[in-house]
Amino acid sequence: GHRLPELARGHGIELGVAVAVNPLVNDRRYRNVIEDHYTSVTAENTMKWQHVQPERGEYDWSGPDTLVDFATARDLNVRGHTMLWHNQQPAWLSQGDWDADTLRAVVHDHVTTVMDRYEGRVTSWDVINEPLEDHGPNMRENLWYDVLGPDYIAQTLYSAHAADPEARLYINEFGIERAGPKADALHALVTDLVDRGVPLHGVGFQGHFVHGNVPDDLADQMRRYTDLGLEVTISEVDVRIPEPVTGEDLADQRREYHDILVACLEVDGCVNVTVWGVTDAHSWIPEWFPGYTAALPFDDSYRPKPALAGMVEAL
Ligand code: XIL
Repeated sequence: GHRLPELARGHGIELGVAVAVNPLVNDRRYRNVIEDHYTSVTAENTMKWQHVQPERGEYDWSGPDTLVDFATARDLNVRGHTMLWHNQQPAWLSQGDWDADTLRAVVHDHVTTVMDRYEGRVTSWDVINEPLEDHGPNMRENLWYDVLGPDYIAQTLYSAHAADPEARLYINEFGIERAGPKADALHALVTDLVDRGVPLHGVGFQGHFVHGNVPDDLADQMRRYTDLGLEVTISEVDVRIPEPVTGEDLADQRREYHDILVACLEVDGCVNVTVWGVTDAHSWIPEWFPGYTAALPFDDSYRPKPALAGMVEAL
């Protein structure tokens, strides 16, 4: 057949989608798109710290359980997203007055508790999200960096590995999809971790692209990590188009989605391509990048766009 799940599995890769819990529960069409087209899911928000541990020591499993139960029942892979990120933290955490020992214990407890719960069902985790500053080569001066110093990354990876020794542990980042100072900086950071034997298994390339500006060296950038013995994923793909969107734009977007998938297929060790939302109606793009839209393979009426055909062609 020519269904995406079989085609993806035929190439030995997962094809994933970011999922929000509310429409997952309430919207049959939303579930159908996931079931018919993808083999993997990522929680768009519900596994982030703000939602999982909204008050200190009080965990809310309702959203994550709903997603993981849905996936397990359908034999879908689950990418865990995310442990340490500078965004979407609860106030008690972001505004706490932390000393290093206490914060280190809080991080260890969070990572251990969440990974224990989903051991065997969530098999890979974005343990570290966006460790570098937005534009440029420096480490981001987030809470973890400020209080624990740069070794927070290794320390958290050790906690995660102890919690679930089988889980594939990732650093997930954007702005590394083409050659440049930020790409080099992440590569240096990852090389150092690998050299030190820190438990790290993969690098996620987020892949939030702008229409007309999808990098042509994505496969080369990913190979720099597979050369280190790591796996890679393209973890949050979308291709946003400036308004007004024309038919020509959508035709070009078809080729762009095609090329993104081909980049993964060209790299031995690229294991997953995940698009960041089920339809254009659910995409984060219009809210976060005003004036841009239509970034995903399904339109806001749940109809497949040329981009979906581009993915099928690639496979
Ligand atoms: C975004 C979600 O899509 C939005 O719903 C939320 O308001 C903000 O976060 N990089 C990431 C993702 O790693 O977690 C972000 O997801 C998009 C950027």
